[in-house]
Amino acid sequence: MKFFVDTAETSEIRELNDMGMLDGVTTNPSLIAKSGRNILEVTKEICDIVEGPVSAEVTATDFDGMMREAAILSKIADNICIKVPLTPDGLKACRMLTEDGRQVNVTLCFSANQALLAAKAGATFISPFIGRLDDTGLEGMELISEIRTIYDNYGFETQILAASIRTVNHVKQAAMIGSDVATVPPAILKALFKHPLTDKGLEAFLADWAKTGQKIV
Ligand code: G3P
Repeated sequence: MKFFVDTAETSEIRELNDMGMLDGVTTNPSLIAKSGRNILEVTKEICDIVEGPVSAEVTATDFDGMMREAAILSKIADNICIKVPLTPDGLKACRMLTEDGRQVNVTLCFSANQALLAAKAGATFISPFIGRLDDTGLEGMELISEIRTIYDNYGFETQILAASIRTVNHVKQAAMIGSDVATVPPAILKALFKHPLTDKGLEAFLADWAKTGQKIV
């Protein structure tokens, strides 16, 4: 499963990329607003850090406006992936952009039927929002499972990009189901490394090693 990081904070992106953990980045208008930076400037900086796809979202809601914004965003770098909302205009833009050779991430997916439509529109990635479904009392992870089945039934090449990931368990479940990608907030990505038995074991090894007085030189 590929790891994307869901943030527009370049210091976090740089740190995770240096660890060799990043296959891409996703941003959205809320994350850009949180960064306090200009969308074109911050997105360009992200594209220079990471080799993989960097999702940049259009904010227009009509087809023509989306295409105009997509043309501007596409010029930022070759690894830009245009993010469009799962609406009729968004899927029309998706079809047009993918036919033009662009990568497209269809976002705000909350049902298997929506994911089916996105695949038929040629989406590169579909972003089902797990955490936001959990927030409503539904089981968000079931949606990943349903989409996996549908895409496998018909051999759709659209990659499932599990989004709105809130816990380390979400990451594990998405991987077990066979999600192609998970886009994960930086804190959750870092938490994946942690286990108390790893810390305890390392402490014991180092204490025993100190007793030997040896050094590996
Ligand atoms: O990039 C979209 C998505 O991951 C949003 O997550 O936590 O705001 O529901 P969240």
